Amino acid sequence: MAMGYCKVPCSALFLCLFIRFCLPYQSLAYKVEANQTAQLLIDASEGSARPIPQTLFGVFFEEINHAGAGGLWAELVSNRGFEAGGSNIPSNIDPWSIIGDESSLIVSTDCSSCFERNKVALRMEVLCSSEGTNICPSGGVGIYNPGFWGMNIEQGKSYKVVFYVCSTGAINISVSFTGSNGLQTLASTNIIASASDVSNWTKMEVLLEANETNHNSRLQLTTTKKGVVWFDQVSAMPLDTYKGHGFRNELIEMLANIKPRFIRFPGGCFVEGEWLRNAFRWKESIGPWEERPGHFGDVWMYWTDDGLGFFEFLQLAEDLGALPIWVFNNGISHNDQVDTSSILPFVQEALDGIEFARADSSSTWGAVRAAMGHPEPFDLRYVAIGNEDCGKKNYRGNYLKFYDAIRRAYPDIKMISNCDGSFHQLDHPTDFYDFHVYTSANNLFSMSHRFDHTSRQGPKAFVSEYAVTGKDAGTGSLLAALAEAGFLIGLEKNSDVVQMASYAPLFVNSNDRRWNPDAIVFNSSQVYGTPSYWVQHFFTESSGATLLNATLQTNSSTSLVASAITWQNSEDDQTYIRIKD
Ligand code: AHR
Repeated sequence: MAMGYCKVPCSALFLCLFIRFCLPYQSLAYKVEANQTAQLLIDASEGSARPIPQTLFGVFFEEINHAGAGGLWAELVSNRGFEAGGSNIPSNIDPWSIIGDESSLIVSTDCSSCFERNKVALRMEVLCSSEGTNICPSGGVGIYNPGFWGMNIEQGKSYKVVFYVCSTGAINISVSFTGSNGLQTLASTNIIASASDVSNWTKMEVLLEANETNHNSRLQLTTTKKGVVWFDQVSAMPLDTYKGHGFRNELIEMLANIKPRFIRFPGGCFVEGEWLRNAFRWKESIGPWEERPGHFGDVWMYWTDDGLGFFEFLQLAEDLGALPIWVFNNGISHNDQVDTSSILPFVQEALDGIEFARADSSSTWGAVRAAMGHPEPFDLRYVAIGNEDCGKKNYRGNYLKFYDAIRRAYPDIKMISNCDGSFHQLDHPTDFYDFHVYTSANNLFSMSHRFDHTSRQGPKAFVSEYAVTGKDAGTGSLLAALAEAGFLIGLEKNSDVVQMASYAPLFVNSNDRRWNPDAIVFNSSQVYGTPSYWVQHFFTESSGATLLNATLQTNSSTSLVASAITWQNSEDDQTYIRIKD
């Protein structure tokens, strides 16, 4: 693929095109034929130009590959409420581990928490002390959390550590960030409280400033004081997050750099669940973080504390200047379905979610949003009724219940069906239809013509998931990116019918690759974009640009695609032309 752009003081436009296109050139696409030549003729007159939708290119954020928990959401502690085993005890405290042995402490879980929706707490019975016959090991005994494959603690940066504690006696607890084996202390403080201060659950909050850097750190809570202590809801957040809203700076900057016009969230299969009981449900993900129950995402097989909840997704969209596109569960998971006759509670949940996002703060759910710090409504204009459920038995029945109720309550909301309307007229009303494609490089490249013959009447297409996968892509490849570029050129040219498109998946924590490839790869301290990310970067200016009529004249093959756009650069107020071929 080649890409060129020139600044067009408009008088120079034709010269610029002439120089670029009167030279025969060789295609860089695969399957190159010898002596293949092509000419691209661009009609830059205003009459032939067409505006590209403002919304054309955006991102799809799914909680997959630890994209959010252990990724974009900057919380350093994993399983902060000791709830990863659900509400039963003994619970799964992983990745918390114990410092000390059975002669010095006994660690267990019980249901004594002060938080109603997440009753599990950690009980620590300390058998040793700083004096007497059973002396604690130096450094004390207790618990540590390595976060998501190591915490990135950086010299000079501050971290807010919050936890809830309760005890039968006085406490003296050391709160520290250390290296992965506990030997290097990066920051530390002591919390001392009398028995009466902590006889009921008490919130403790400290700021720790790191005096060294370690990308593989852990948080420790230790003591040398004999007695029984309970802990719950332990959090450690860097102070330095994007706009102070809890998003990890380097990761969100990767998003900001491609200027996404929308953000679809929170899944994907994550929305459906293998089973409905494990699907993402927005009401469980809002309110004070301590009170959120968290849930086990059984499709991608990991626990999330749901710090990145419905409110935070809406906030993320606002912070990126992108329109939120909320995908909600329609009563269908991978393995079970709610009958249409019983779907109304799910419909009400969706209506309540829309009210939470965009009603004023005098409404029931708008008031909850306001209490979370956002009195102004969020700009929610699009919702998707389920994900990849079109073929399922109850989809149409359920869909219509959601569609009718939302249309009645919010006539302006645009709804997205899971059924592909690009070949046939749909049998149900919708504003958009969702289109997903994961395939080989060859196939995706040839799909640049996929929407050429789609009806221009009726609902528009939302290509909400596309990518080259399999051996052509591996964990990211130039071949995959080139094919995606070809596909995107086709979408650009068909943007009268394809109004939105996003690559998938967006993020992968390299320690938990559930899906390959992905656009952005990271670990605790590093981040890079795969070639697929950088292709999206090439298309940053396309949304809201003007598509010029460009005709390829070639002596062969389908392996060439090209488009030309003009766009206004807000930085220098100049008009540019960009040619992609
Ligand atoms: O993007 C990964 C998965 O692919 C999504 O969760 C799902 O919608 C699709 O099958």
